[in-house]
Amino acid sequence: MTHQTRPHPGSLAEGAEYVLRTNDRGHMTVAAPRLYPHLWSWDAAFVSIGLSRLSVERAVTELRTLLGAQWSTGMIPHIVFGDDRSYFPGPDRWGTDGAAGAPAGIATSGICQPPVHAIALAEVVAQGRRLGGTDRLVAEEFLDETFDQWFNWHAWLAAARDPHGHGMVEIHHGWESGLDNSPRWDHSYAMVEPGELEPVVRSDLQHVADLSQRPSDYEYRQYAWLIDQMRSVGYDDVAMRTTVDFRVRDVLMSAILAVASDVLAELGEGIGRQAQAHRLRATADRFRLGVTRAVSPVTGLARDFDVRTGEWIHTATVAGFAPLLCSSDRALRDRQLRILTGPQWMAHPSLKFALPTSTSPSSPAFRCTTYWRGPVWPVITWLLAWGLRRHGDESLAEQLRLTSLEQLAHEDFAEYYDPFSGFALGSRNQSWTAAVALDWLSEG
Ligand code: SER
Repeated sequence: MTHQTRPHPGSLAEGAEYVLRTNDRGHMTVAAPRLYPHLWSWDAAFVSIGLSRLSVERAVTELRTLLGAQWSTGMIPHIVFGDDRSYFPGPDRWGTDGAAGAPAGIATSGICQPPVHAIALAEVVAQGRRLGGTDRLVAEEFLDETFDQWFNWHAWLAAARDPHGHGMVEIHHGWESGLDNSPRWDHSYAMVEPGELEPVVRSDLQHVADLSQRPSDYEYRQYAWLIDQMRSVGYDDVAMRTTVDFRVRDVLMSAILAVASDVLAELGEGIGRQAQAHRLRATADRFRLGVTRAVSPVTGLARDFDVRTGEWIHTATVAGFAPLLCSSDRALRDRQLRILTGPQWMAHPSLKFALPTSTSPSSPAFRCTTYWRGPVWPVITWLLAWGLRRHGDESLAEQLRLTSLEQLAHEDFAEYYDPFSGFALGSRNQSWTAAVALDWLSEG
């Protein structure tokens, strides 16, 4: 298997820029050149942060393309399809054409991903303001013009995915969490038993040499089954809750909604949208409370909740640190920081780099080379570092930045990394990895 490489290796920043430019299809940056040849929702957010370091206007275009696919319900879909027909499941399998709320003439999936967009928007706007001139104008105009759309996205998540006010976002597919096959979902997926299925023809395995780095075939049958279930009710928000076999309240997504709502409120307050900002603050508080309540008094980690069994999920994954993104509670933060920097996580003796792994290396569920079951994902490190910095935990944030840059020094900009060997895994030239590298480099 060959990977696209840069013709003239140079600095890490040049390498990251090369990846973003090569993956640029004009109005969208594909998430990865071959494995993910379309626009993914949360990838696009991180990518726009990196792009803003090259061109504020191009960063804005990325977010504008994503928003162009927003459903009239407010949902931002997890994939906006481009022209490539090789990805599975493609538009035909999703069958969102004609679903109530789906945008006309744009092919999308029917589920969503974590709402990191306001964080990206704030970064892009800040970069525009720093640069001034046209960059500032472009960013300010975009903020003003699209504020309602971002607001509607948050309002939809709060209403459609938490109708009873638990302060946690309910998801209906592991893909909605962004951490697709994280072992935190194993118990919930054990109850997803695929029935008669249309063919599942995976294309991802053509692009990753070692198949064990990807989810299994059985997992893919489950993924397809859930899509078929949701499609059968036309992706109706209410009907899905009684149809789909996977229903969990995702603590990481809830923390992201909380803090992103604060960030969007801050942006809104700056442009005179006081009433909407007020509602966003209420959303932020509600989900922050939900996340805080989800913290296990025993382990100190935040937990997801399986709606079908009515049970908390205890697997020690990086999602357990959700409070570090959204909570200002000093005692809670200090306890979580001790755990994160302790021997079950960043100080685990087998780690090549002291970075947060997707699953604790001490957990029986840990697998060092399989997708979200163990590897280090630079983009998650970026998000945690951002949360640390926002809440004043500057020195650990800086440590994560510097260690990640060391991890990325080989310039393969991999999707994820083996925590023990440090080897690149999954796709190479992954756009969001290049994007966070660029952002980190610009802070130095
Ligand atoms: N990450 C998924 C994939 O592997 C899609 O959301 O295709």
